[in-house]
Amino acid sequence: MIRRALLLLLLAPALHAEDAPVTMPEGDAERGRLVFGQCRTCHYPEREMGHNNGPSLHRIFGRVAGKQAGFDYYSDTFREAKFVWTPQLLYLWLEDPLAMFPGTTMMSRGVPDPQQRADLVAYLKRASVRGSQEPMQ
Ligand code: HEC
Repeated sequence: MIRRALLLLLLAPALHAEDAPVTMPEGDAERGRLVFGQCRTCHYPEREMGHNNGPSLHRIFGRVAGKQAGFDYYSDTFREAKFVWTPQLLYLWLEDPLAMFPGTTMMSRGVPDPQQRADLVAYLKRASVRGSQEPMQ
């Protein structure tokens, strides 16, 4: 179950999600590449592939949620969101996407397994760095 108090902490603009007490296992990008298979139906992390049924996940960490140009299908929940995607927040969200954002239009049951989620986060970091000179957070 997602701990609501922790989520409120993470979503509070005054607080840095990086400082929040989220324990995330060490992730393995290569294993995460396989976990990402279920997301690839709707998302690409490669910049040149752009948006699909879901928005691009290229360099998703550090972006404000729901604001990518060229993706016209955000829910109101994401369109109005004011938080920034961090590895910790994505890790928490994907435990049960509808529990955190009931209004989301993302039809995914998420990734309930903590290790698989951490692997997925590691993969998204790596996939975003490739082909880009800009440093990741
Ligand atoms: C059936 C299609 C589908 C699947 C499968 C899916 N997504 Fe999504 N995703 C979406 C849609 C649609 C949105 C926009 C949601 C909204 O606006 O409520 C979204 C939004 C997102 C966002 C926010 C992007 C932004 O610009 O704020 C992230 C991050 C994300 N998805 C990650 C994932 C990951 C990781 C997986 C695999 C576990 C996954 N998604 C599986 C369709 C999908």
